[in-house]
Amino acid sequence: MSDRTLLLAGNWKMNHDHLEAISTVQKLAWALEDAKLDESQCEVVVIPPFTDIRSVQTLIQGDKLWLRYGAQDVSRHAPGAHTGEIAASFLSRLGCTYVVVGHSERRADNHETNDLVAAKIKAALAQEITPILCIGESLEQRQEKTHVDFTLNQLDESLAGFDAAALEGIVIAYEPVWAIGTGETATAADAAEMATAIRARLDEKYGSPLAASTRILYGGSVKTDNVAEILGSDDVDGALVGGASLSGPDFAALCKAAVAK
Ligand code: 13P
Repeated sequence: MSDRTLLLAGNWKMNHDHLEAISTVQKLAWALEDAKLDESQCEVVVIPPFTDIRSVQTLIQGDKLWLRYGAQDVSRHAPGAHTGEIAASFLSRLGCTYVVVGHSERRADNHETNDLVAAKIKAALAQEITPILCIGESLEQRQEKTHVDFTLNQLDESLAGFDAAALEGIVIAYEPVWAIGTGETATAADAAEMATAIRARLDEKYGSPLAASTRILYGGSVKTDNVAEILGSDDVDGALVGGASLSGPDFAALCKAAVAK
């Protein structure tokens, strides 16, 4: 067992408006309480759309809930003339602990490159927001058996220019593109192979304290009935959950199964 805190993060993607967000977080909080889960066992994070964050903040801070929250993306720019962008400083003012960067849906829909992802990480770190860096291969790359090289290259390029001190606390999420929203899950062995390779690369480039403290998540069709198996490897420290995080009770059940593994 590692001493890294188990992290269960729910990426809602473009689901739930701010009213639905309030009811989902309330139900999640109740269900976690019923399940007798608290922050001594795991860290639970919700990552709603931007327009929900203020409502989620008000609820979590007002009711002193132990949940944390974050954003799904951030601008590389400081505040200024960048129509439609959201600055890291704005997320910081809203109390966001985390921000997802480099999700494969943004890489695909918005042509985000590793260079841009690195710039977003820099913007987040400057505001003391923890990036959750998403990396992972396509089905084609897995079939060609280039998945480890491809994913480690994404890691290298997305973290280019940072040193170990800057990256302390960063979270890496291994999300194979073919497993996202498909019901197709990587096997526990697939998840473990990549998490171990990522940790070894962090060790090689930044030294063992950073490698030993960095949390590496798996994401891609994680559900209540497969989470324990996925978390079987000591190198997998939690999950980035899409569809199964949209219902408060379902996400709490998943968290419970993860803690019980
Ligand atoms: P699903 O759990 O819906 O497959 O989504 C995974 C994901 O992309 C989380 O960021």
